[in-house]
Amino acid sequence: MKLYYNISKLACVNGHKAKKGRDMSDIGYITDGAFVTDKDKFIFAGKRDKAFELYPDAEKIDLKNKAVIPGFTDSHTHLVFGGYRVSEFMMRLEGRSYMEIMQAGGGIKSTTQATRMLSAEQMAEKTLPFVNELLSYGVTTLEIKSGYGLDKETELRQLLSMKILEEMTPIRIVKTYMGAHALPDEFKNNPSGYIRYICEEVLPAVKEQGIAKYCDVFCEKNVFSKEESAIIFDRAKGLGLGLKIHADEIEDGGTTAFGVRYGCTSTDHLLHVSDEGIEALAFGETVATLLPITAFSLKEKYAPARRLIDKGAAVAIATDCNPGSCFSDSIPLLIALSSLNMGMTFEEIICSLTLNGAAAVGNAESFGSIQEGKYADFLVLKWEDPAFLNYHICGNGV
Ligand code: NIG
Ligand code: FE
Repeated sequence: MKLYYNISKLACVNGHKAKKGRDMSDIGYITDGAFVTDKDKFIFAGKRDKAFELYPDAEKIDLKNKAVIPGFTDSHTHLVFGGYRVSEFMMRLEGRSYMEIMQAGGGIKSTTQATRMLSAEQMAEKTLPFVNELLSYGVTTLEIKSGYGLDKETELRQLLSMKILEEMTPIRIVKTYMGAHALPDEFKNNPSGYIRYICEEVLPAVKEQGIAKYCDVFCEKNVFSKEESAIIFDRAKGLGLGLKIHADEIEDGGTTAFGVRYGCTSTDHLLHVSDEGIEALAFGETVATLLPITAFSLKEKYAPARRLIDKGAAVAIATDCNPGSCFSDSIPLLIALSSLNMGMTFEEIICSLTLNGAAAVGNAESFGSIQEGKYADFLVLKWEDPAFLNYHICGNGV
């Protein structure tokens, strides 16, 4: 047993499911707090005096009057990939759009060619530095999507590489199968053939290997339609996988409300979400995962974080780190953009990276808070006041 004390401000973010709307501001500060761990779980969080009274024999660890918050979950990344796309970034700086580049054969397809050349071990080696960077910023759980193989063999190798990565680092990885990321050349002009291939060949293999928790679909005009996404979702659900969706990223297609109706654990991006989509989130259980670094990098307008929270939605924020639309693994930048450009308060940001991030990957029962019974993933900050994470712009306060 270990008793951690002398904590200036302890943000517990208590709860076992995502906090919605106004509740996101309640992150349960305790001043002069303490907490106790037994092996890998919290067994107590509260006032220092109470901790000393209840656990006199625990090993005592002085945190020197620093702030403590729960570990972060980066709940949306595409971190297993081959090659890079620096020339596309330069093209975008000159004014070409993400979709134009994609339709001209660049984008996801170019990463797919490079990813197919890699073994699972090579993929893991390539991803490792990004994982270590995220760890340094306090990310203790990381979601990674496949979706750069598109064929069964490569998609399975991508998912396997995530398992290998888990052996290489202390981070926890939530694995998502995202075959419906782009239409591969083998199925050019044959989307229904590709959907059939996903449903009949790939999803059953993913299930059999027990190698993914979620199935994600890029549901967008000129990518996969709602009808096509529904076929994939029905199959994935039937096999026991959870659902996620890239929704209303490039334009409003009503895909957020569609995702909520389908019981997606999270609907992600939402740059162009309609009032109907916001309403669906406010009344549903789905987490709205916002990815402001992608909007920043694509020079697009941000998702309406303020309206979402004010209407009662549960918001999470994540990096979306990938070699195309958003090549950044910077949690400090994510915090800065969420605050200065999306208008989220500091408390909302902490909630969205901890409990709500955990909820976005179905982990809120056991992660995302400093409270009895949860896994002891916590961050000791360099500061007395946790708000310095926000105030010290792009500094790493962990
Ligand atoms: O979340 N929108 C689709 N997928 C990624 C981009 C992937 C890529 O460009 O390689 C995203 O932005
Ligand atoms: Fe994404």
